[in-house]
Amino acid sequence: MQVETWIDVGASDELAQQPVQQLVLGRIKIALTYMDGQFSAISGICNHVGGPLGEGKLEGDYVVCPWHYWKFHCRTGEGEPGYEEDRVPAHEVRVENGRVLIRTLPSSDRTRKKHEPHPLARAPHRVAGQIRVLGISTTAMTATYPRYSTSDDLLAHSLKEAAEKLGCETRLLRIQNIKVRECEGYYSKSARACTWPCSITQMDPSDEMDQVYEGVVHWADVIIVATPIRWGSASSLYYKMVERMNCIQNQETIANKHLLRNKVVGFIITGGQDNVQAVAGQMLGFFSEIGCQFPQFPYVAHSRGWSAEDMENNQRYVQDSAWLHEGTAALVRRCTEMAKVMIESTLGKDALIRGGRKGHQLDTSSSQVGRLNPLLSEQTKTE
Ligand code: FES
Repeated sequence: MQVETWIDVGASDELAQQPVQQLVLGRIKIALTYMDGQFSAISGICNHVGGPLGEGKLEGDYVVCPWHYWKFHCRTGEGEPGYEEDRVPAHEVRVENGRVLIRTLPSSDRTRKKHEPHPLARAPHRVAGQIRVLGISTTAMTATYPRYSTSDDLLAHSLKEAAEKLGCETRLLRIQNIKVRECEGYYSKSARACTWPCSITQMDPSDEMDQVYEGVVHWADVIIVATPIRWGSASSLYYKMVERMNCIQNQETIANKHLLRNKVVGFIITGGQDNVQAVAGQMLGFFSEIGCQFPQFPYVAHSRGWSAEDMENNQRYVQDSAWLHEGTAALVRRCTEMAKVMIESTLGKDALIRGGRKGHQLDTSSSQVGRLNPLLSEQTKTE
């Protein structure tokens, strides 16, 4: 049971300098606001996934959470209109002799409005059936006058092999044809602000990255990612996609939750110039960190080298190359064989313990626990 206490949190003229601030009173976090000559206090812990409300902004009468922008009335703690039921506790405040005092016992309870889970939030479960191969094209081109693309050509050939010779189900996803917002750095605010499903996916129904998540997490057994080389790196669309996939890796980091199991990835990398090994290295590193497996010899690549600026000849070279086409067909064969092995056998239940790059206990505590009133520093040590 919480003990009724009033805590002196500081001088009113100093606290009035900021419209909203996060205070830590022992085990209680408070978002203290100052507006129109009046102090108000609500819980500093957001109803969504625990964002620090006192580090947000004041917009009218509402405190806006800095993580995903849920809003709570600065005096009542109620959610914004339509979400009043999503309420954080309010605390009484009084000013005496130039000091601000906050009652630790809240004057209202925390209540939560029921939110339907996002469809992607369902537990990943492989539905029985043929091996499913997802091709992802990350090249960009003029939508109305598409050009010949060496990486797309080889990707199409590998999917044809999978569908016609191996009896797989196949899908092709062109990143350039879907509307994908850039990763806006929720992880940079806090690992817990980077959610699964992705924060943007949950907030913006017009964003179509859910097609990638659905394909990679819930549908595919084999994923073939194709990219051109642009200035020695994979394409900008590839990076746009994988930055948004950070939320998959982050589930390993913060929740020890494995969204991807038994997924096999192969790559097709083509460029008029060079840097194949560095591009492949980045792609292998990223996909291994989200829990994917690779066949032996996991990529097919092509480059004619630094001096070959005659791109027309490069296109013709790839178009006419039986070796490259047979190479990508063999890549998808290796991937599907590997997927079968993984699906039909089972790793021990402890096989993925401390998976990802976090082989040790994470240090997620921060020495900065908010903008603390120095008078409260002793109490905060108990946090
Ligand atoms: S909006 Fe507050 S934690 Fe997400």
